[in-house]
Amino acid sequence: MATTNEPAAGMLSALLQEDRRYPPSDEFKAQANWSDPAIYERAEADPEAFWAEQARAIDWFKPWDRVLDWNPPKARWFVGAEVNASYNCVDRHLQSWRRNKAAIIFEGEPGDSRVLTYRDLYREVNRCAAALKRLGVKKGDRVAIYLGMVPELAIAMLACARIGAPHTVIFAGFSADSISDRVNDCGATFAITADGGWRRGNKIPLKDTMDRAMESCPTVKTVLVVNRTDDARQVPMNEGRDVWWHRALADSGAEQVEPERLDAEHPLYILYTSGTTGKPKGMLHTTGGYLVGTACTHKYVFDLKEEDVYWCTADVGWVTGHSYIVYGPLANGSTCLMYEGSPDYPDKDRFWDIVEKYAVSILYTAPTAIRTFMRWGKDFPAKHDLSSLRVLGTVGEPINPEAWVWYREVIGGDRCPVVDTWWMTETGQILITPLPGITVLKPGSATFPFPAVKADVLDESGNSVPLGSGGYLVLQRPWPAMARTIWGDEERYRTQYWSRFPGNYFAGDGAKRDEAGYYWLLGRVDDVLNVAGHRIGTMEVESALVSHPAVAEAAVIGISHEIKGQGIAAFATLRGGYEGGATMVETLRDHVGDKIGAIAKPDKIFFTAELPKTRSAKIMRRLLRDIAEGKVLGDTTTLADPTILASIKQQYEESE
Ligand code: WTA
Repeated sequence: MATTNEPAAGMLSALLQEDRRYPPSDEFKAQANWSDPAIYERAEADPEAFWAEQARAIDWFKPWDRVLDWNPPKARWFVGAEVNASYNCVDRHLQSWRRNKAAIIFEGEPGDSRVLTYRDLYREVNRCAAALKRLGVKKGDRVAIYLGMVPELAIAMLACARIGAPHTVIFAGFSADSISDRVNDCGATFAITADGGWRRGNKIPLKDTMDRAMESCPTVKTVLVVNRTDDARQVPMNEGRDVWWHRALADSGAEQVEPERLDAEHPLYILYTSGTTGKPKGMLHTTGGYLVGTACTHKYVFDLKEEDVYWCTADVGWVTGHSYIVYGPLANGSTCLMYEGSPDYPDKDRFWDIVEKYAVSILYTAPTAIRTFMRWGKDFPAKHDLSSLRVLGTVGEPINPEAWVWYREVIGGDRCPVVDTWWMTETGQILITPLPGITVLKPGSATFPFPAVKADVLDESGNSVPLGSGGYLVLQRPWPAMARTIWGDEERYRTQYWSRFPGNYFAGDGAKRDEAGYYWLLGRVDDVLNVAGHRIGTMEVESALVSHPAVAEAAVIGISHEIKGQGIAAFATLRGGYEGGATMVETLRDHVGDKIGAIAKPDKIFFTAELPKTRSAKIMRRLLRDIAEGKVLGDTTTLADPTILASIKQQYEESE
């Protein structure tokens, strides 16, 4: 795999000149869950013993025979153990005073709010699990969930986990085609959606999109429909297929469903993520190791305390929501806030209003959001009392030092540690991160591998690069929440992650370590874009573009974007009889929106008579990137027709 997305050299040196340091305060250290750096050596001395110790925080029906069975790249964790994620996230908390502790605090976008205690959650999860069973869902069946950020989403996931039916949550911003691709890939037989969801004051017609998707999903027999926007009368229900959630749960009465005793390696969920081909990969996560990895990192990375009000602003449609809204936090018995809508509705202080309203103490968000808040200005957070906050986190994309410092000072009152956490859908759990009671923070650095995690930075030929240099980020030892395979494509799992550097997990990210060994993440090194923290494959966008009758060929690249980190630029050649221009740009943007979802709409589209290609007809995206970055064009001698670059370059410059 070639390095196609070289991080800009300028960005690198700017990062490494960053000399601000933020050690933990004495006060923070004194109360921290971990404050002794010896934890790193202890874990390193015996990683399996370390994870076994962490695994004691989980309730097992049957203990494991072996901590780890490692046949690279196949891992089995807590071999022989029996466990249930729903039991760990719900039932076990009823045995203590936590039964009446708030599990989920829900803030709807219109301003409605709901609090579910662990006892309430137990009741709802049981009623949902009973309904699923009654409607024919069995252990091992896949259930597709297409819902906005409402408590029913977590309830549905936990109900699936309870009966051993792996769920596949599909982000509510995805299109009908994206839904049907995922549903068909995993052969889901059951689906859950809502009449709609609220976003910026509008009703998002989830059920309509689902209905269109279902036209090409023959395996789905039943669709359970949550009434969220009270559109009940307007939403057509498909006789024999659609069932209202509230009716089905009412029919369950007070029925209780015993949590299945599942093997530790029983599939918990499949979550699709973009790769370098046009087809998203269904990452398969299993139960025991995943619970251990997410609960442990949630507790120590955020320095979780019993009385914290924890808010992760991610959408549950992405892995961050799976690991750090649902499974990790609920396994830890914490109080989790869930917000349905947009940060600027009704005004740009909505997040700060929520922090103040519920006295949020841990906030976990994305760099794109932080950069957006920076642009909106300090007045919005200044309107609110944010003194409840004590730990801040970020995830999803590299954070620039300015945004980091702004987050710390303006949101965290210069007192809260900021933990920049690196991980991926594939890793399931946070892997490179500060420990807030131990690590001296550097703005823009994810700092060090979590205890027992072994990372390295390699050059092209697989040699570890010396401190001070950059290369490919790899992981050299298994960790409990790692994905076990790609659903239905074992071969792709091996080649994608384990063959570039045999014995190493290849993350696809560039990284650099400074002289002190701190890790600085530099972005993707493959054809995967990271737009506002969302992974999108250039190939996916290209195939969406060429599926439009006007487009003969398309090439897509990432361009730097002040707020989103990366934006999308597309270069297209049109078929005869079609004309470029503003109308065509809008047509194609909408087409990509229909094919994938709004997040994949290109920011810029250029029309060109030809794309730069080698004589063997390979599109040279590298040259397009050079144009976008205003670089002197590299070697063009291999191009079939070097003259076409000049016209693309001119168009690009005119668009700036
Ligand atoms: C990027 C999200 C820099 C990275 C949890 C990775 C980051 C991809 C960070 C995974 C971070 C995530 N610093 N880059 N702290 N966290 N990334 O699967 O490129 O949606 O490969 O998982 O996001 O995205 P995914």
